[in-house]
Amino acid sequence: MRVIIEKNADAVAVRAACFVAELIRRKPACVLGLPTGGTPLGLYRQLIRLHREEGLDFSQVTTFNLDEYVGLEATHPQSYRYFMQENLFRHVNLDPAKTHVPDGLSLDFESSCEKYEQMIRAAGGIDLQVLGIGSDGHIAFNEPGSSLGSRTRVKSLTGETIRDNARFFGSEDQVPRLAITMGVATILDSRRCLLLATGPGKASAVRSAIEGPVTAQVTASALQLHRDVIAVLDEDAGGWLTRRECYAEFERAQRLLETGQWRELGIGKQ
Ligand code: GLP
Repeated sequence: MRVIIEKNADAVAVRAACFVAELIRRKPACVLGLPTGGTPLGLYRQLIRLHREEGLDFSQVTTFNLDEYVGLEATHPQSYRYFMQENLFRHVNLDPAKTHVPDGLSLDFESSCEKYEQMIRAAGGIDLQVLGIGSDGHIAFNEPGSSLGSRTRVKSLTGETIRDNARFFGSEDQVPRLAITMGVATILDSRRCLLLATGPGKASAVRSAIEGPVTAQVTASALQLHRDVIAVLDEDAGGWLTRRECYAEFERAQRLLETGQWRELGIGKQ
């Protein structure tokens, strides 16, 4: 896993936007997997800026969101469809028909979840899956104990997640108890994953996910099994990592490689 530690949340947003924009420019009809929550807001602001100021073109891009609460209408201010509409979709030139969020209203969970998986496959799979992380180390709504082989399905939320997300709803009892979520295996099928985390509240989850054992108790740790994951963290979220120096060293070497500074890398000195 490539680990990039930036100074603060703003720098994380800028760095993450570079990865997304680079993909869209290289592959205009790419498929993005998108998260909700507080963490990706800075990234979405950067993407809107790139669209307005540099003409970043979303017209052929397809998106699939990670999850949606069960029982909330798309017009409910706390539904993830509404969140995406307000924070990204309506500000860029995405084709609404190409934006997908799991259907939180269909109570025929089995067929709506299978349909979501089929739609992802029909779109050619996800090129870049952007992820946040819950304070207990979950990705999407794959709460601790979720099968690492799981696919899109309905999940009940843990007390910790309900408490964390109550800040968006006003009180804990307004937070839905169920959500439709991509599974861990659905996420691992993506060609690249971009894990974002900011703030000291994520430091423990980030350490378990990146340096702990692979376990269903911390579903983000399954990302260690994926061959192309980039974690972009701020100093607070990366603060508990023990191998920070190694990650920084790798990034320095990566930059030298990308800019062709072979001699600095010790190549061609003899
Ligand atoms: C929810 C979402 C996750 C998100 C997590 C953290 O549980 N389902 O996709 O990563 O919250 O959210 P935040 O970025 O607000 O900390």
